[in-house]
Amino acid sequence: CGIIGHVGTDDALDTLLTGLENLEYRGYDSAGIAVQNGAGIAVQKRSGKVEELKNSIGDKHIEGNVGIGHTRWSTHGPPTDENAHPHTDGTEDVAVVHNGIIENYAELKDWLRARGHEFTSDTDTEVIPHLIQHHLDEGMESEAAFRRAIDELEGSYAVTAMLDGEHVLYAARKGSPLVVGVEDDEFFLASDVPAFLEYTDTVAYLEDGDVAIIDEAGVEFTDLAGDSISRDLETVEWDPEQAGKGEYDHFMLKEIHEQPTALAQAIEGRIDPTNGRIALEDFPPGTFDGVENVQLIACGTSYHAALYGSLALNQAGIRATALLANEYSVTAPPVDDDTLVIAVSQSGETADTLSALRQATAAGADTLTVTNVVGSTAAREADETLFIRAGPEIGVAATKTFSSQAVMLTLLAQRIAADSRGEPPADLQSLLPDLAQMPSQLEDLLATDDAAHIARQYQGSQSYFFIGRGLGYPVALEGALKFKEITYEHAEGFASGELKHGPLALVTPDTPVFAVFTGEEDEKTLKNAEEAQTRGAPVIAVCPEGHRAVEVADEHLEIPDTDDELAGLLANVQLQLVSYHAAELLDRPIDKPRNLAKSVTVE
Ligand code: G6P
Repeated sequence: CGIIGHVGTDDALDTLLTGLENLEYRGYDSAGIAVQNGAGIAVQKRSGKVEELKNSIGDKHIEGNVGIGHTRWSTHGPPTDENAHPHTDGTEDVAVVHNGIIENYAELKDWLRARGHEFTSDTDTEVIPHLIQHHLDEGMESEAAFRRAIDELEGSYAVTAMLDGEHVLYAARKGSPLVVGVEDDEFFLASDVPAFLEYTDTVAYLEDGDVAIIDEAGVEFTDLAGDSISRDLETVEWDPEQAGKGEYDHFMLKEIHEQPTALAQAIEGRIDPTNGRIALEDFPPGTFDGVENVQLIACGTSYHAALYGSLALNQAGIRATALLANEYSVTAPPVDDDTLVIAVSQSGETADTLSALRQATAAGADTLTVTNVVGSTAAREADETLFIRAGPEIGVAATKTFSSQAVMLTLLAQRIAADSRGEPPADLQSLLPDLAQMPSQLEDLLATDDAAHIARQYQGSQSYFFIGRGLGYPVALEGALKFKEITYEHAEGFASGELKHGPLALVTPDTPVFAVFTGEEDEKTLKNAEEAQTRGAPVIAVCPEGHRAVEVADEHLEIPDTDDELAGLLANVQLQLVSYHAAELLDRPIDKPRNLAKSVTVE
């Protein structure tokens, strides 16, 4: 879900609607705004997209320079107009937007009902404006009433409230991000910086437990008890141009094409030119002394990057396992003094991943997060952070961030192995030059239209299978995930050798098989692909020109020649393009697939 707020001298409505559009990628089954206009609080909310909210506002003059807005991704109650935020206390004296989950909402609701409060939605959020109103009725001042209400909440939240007749926004954070933006005497509040990036790049992040009180005169940060605290203003380096779609039809295509730059940025300064060693400037030599065992935790696409990283670590001689963060609470392997737990998360806000990270911390592990978002919760909570520097990713389906995560984990694997063995890094003579070439190789690959041709050729197939071995396996899984996410067609990824142990029963002439070759026992993978081909399935080989698979396969998606450790990442980009073009042919809403959200902040 996304939050936007505005206080200043300008009208709030435009800022709120622009903010909501910028935030839609965080969740978008409903949207709403509330504006303070001197004659009460005007609320407008709708299920559906921001566009529908805008239509419902039409030419209505909703004037006022204080307002809040929200895009919702349902947790409690279906996406209806009533369940959309902002929520009020019924009289529209208090309006609230909220991200996260109020765990004790049922008790609070009963308690409030017993005192005459009536509820109109199924949401947990609605208890907040009622609680505030209750404390106001008891005679508390606005700020005290807000603090008391926040204090009564259990669970996670980013809350923003406004009260009738006041030019003030009250905000509180626990477990769900909030950031304040400042530009002269205009103030913004959002769950994520891109919401207000066209207005300001000067920001201050709220920490867990912070309350911010914002009016035209400025921002005051306090703790929950009301004691003043200071939060630094920072400048973010993302420009609004970058956060827009540019020349591309979809953010996803734009982000696929940004991969050469994203990778160049990820590597920049992280390889020491004097000795060709991996520098990772954030970590002084010896940071990973004594690490013998690595657990990588992640979800979705990040899990595939984590799996890629675990294999790179194994190959570098370090015991490593990739684990689904949402399974970690029930399946976590033991953690001891020499265990490093790495949380891999584009957003740094995925609830499953944060919860696993907290569990690992509590068990005494050293922790590190690999993330794209500076100031994210994972970055704040882990002992160490490695930023992938991929820039904002708006498309719900992760693309460039997967590539950057996998590359950074590959470098990190070498550093961990070197530190832990107290030796200079292994022979990287082949990896590093190939890595340096990767951005330009990707440019070449992106200039071809083979993927579009393959997508057209196999349009309308019954199912799409992806196979790979070694580092090609996470790529096969990711290829299938991308395909199902944005085309809504059935797709599965398998380890090549596993195809014959069951999935082969599904193989028919109507199930194209994409075979990823990464130089790891390619002969065996080719044999597995032929087993499918014998049953009539068309085989698309994803491999360099001149590879033996090209002769055998029905079709070829070419990747440039590179190190085995990187070949899978080039193959992945071809598969991203196949999914994109297949989804485009089906006219799917590529950047916002149904039922999915960019960042899932509930477990
Ligand atoms: C959601 C997104 C996926 C993403 C996953 C993990 O499910 O739809 O694309 O891979 O969250 O997100 P993270 O921000 O932790 O990488």
